[in-house]
Amino acid sequence: MMHTILVATEKPFARVAVDGIAAIAKEAGLEFRLLEKYPDKETLLKAVGDADALIVRSDIVDKAVIQAANKLKIVVRAGAGYDNIDLEAATAKSVVVMNTPGQNANAVAELTFGMMIYLNRNFFNGTSGVELRGKTLGLHAYGHVGRVIGLIGRGMGMDVFANDPYVEKIFIENDGVKYVPEKKDLYRTCQYVVVCLPASTETRESIDYTLMSSMPEGATLVNPARKEVIHEPSLLKIFAERKDFRYITDVAPNCNEQLKNEYGNRYYATPKKMAAQTEEANINAGLAAARQIVNYLEKGDRTFQVN
Ligand code: 3PG
Repeated sequence: MMHTILVATEKPFARVAVDGIAAIAKEAGLEFRLLEKYPDKETLLKAVGDADALIVRSDIVDKAVIQAANKLKIVVRAGAGYDNIDLEAATAKSVVVMNTPGQNANAVAELTFGMMIYLNRNFFNGTSGVELRGKTLGLHAYGHVGRVIGLIGRGMGMDVFANDPYVEKIFIENDGVKYVPEKKDLYRTCQYVVVCLPASTETRESIDYTLMSSMPEGATLVNPARKEVIHEPSLLKIFAERKDFRYITDVAPNCNEQLKNEYGNRYYATPKKMAAQTEEANINAGLAAARQIVNYLEKGDRTFQVN
């Protein structure tokens, strides 16, 4: 019987990426279905009913979704972070979960610099701003995203440092980046710290008062990752205490309105998570997801399985 592949994306991929996924599905003899900008959970629950394979982005794939998907064999998160997927529920139903590491890293890195420059040039209001060249840049985690940010930062003449207990010192140093064994020293030293962490039980609310308050004069915390990694009461406290502290993020925190209203000259959050929203990233991640599904269904290839 023909297998069905469903692309369920509340935030749609670029058309060219959707066409590419459809072509891969067709070539492999899979039926292709598309559910974009769905209005509510009910619609998603209904749509997954006959899906053998599912491609999502930040869409919430919780227990209810997994249970409603009776034929489901594989879910691929077209992107890096899979904190939106209930791995336990998937494993309990023998559903394989994968991500597509690295495929959207460049898009995220470029937007990170876009946000930094936007803030440094006073939201493009024409008044005199500051430059990134010659400043210290700290990468909190050196995965795919951190690595590209480091590369761009070096190209812009920044002095780049990284902390990541899961990456070998030699790997970081070979990229011309200074290795910092302790994260507290990264925050203490760097004028710009970019958080490149996944959201997990280990990282949740881990950027706390101690780290933020240790940052140097005029420091900027940059978050293209997940709002959950920031301890928001500490963030509010720092903003109240330090007039020099700045925060820019691709994921609005729960306290967005307050920060915007009270500290709008040194705070910015994108209106909707958009760092990975480029044609190229959509093509890279979407097509990789489709190929991983085909390889799993045809050959049992479990590369990039995360559960
Ligand atoms: C990721 O984890 O890959 C990024 O945060 C991008 O998420 P998105 O697919 O929802 O844009």
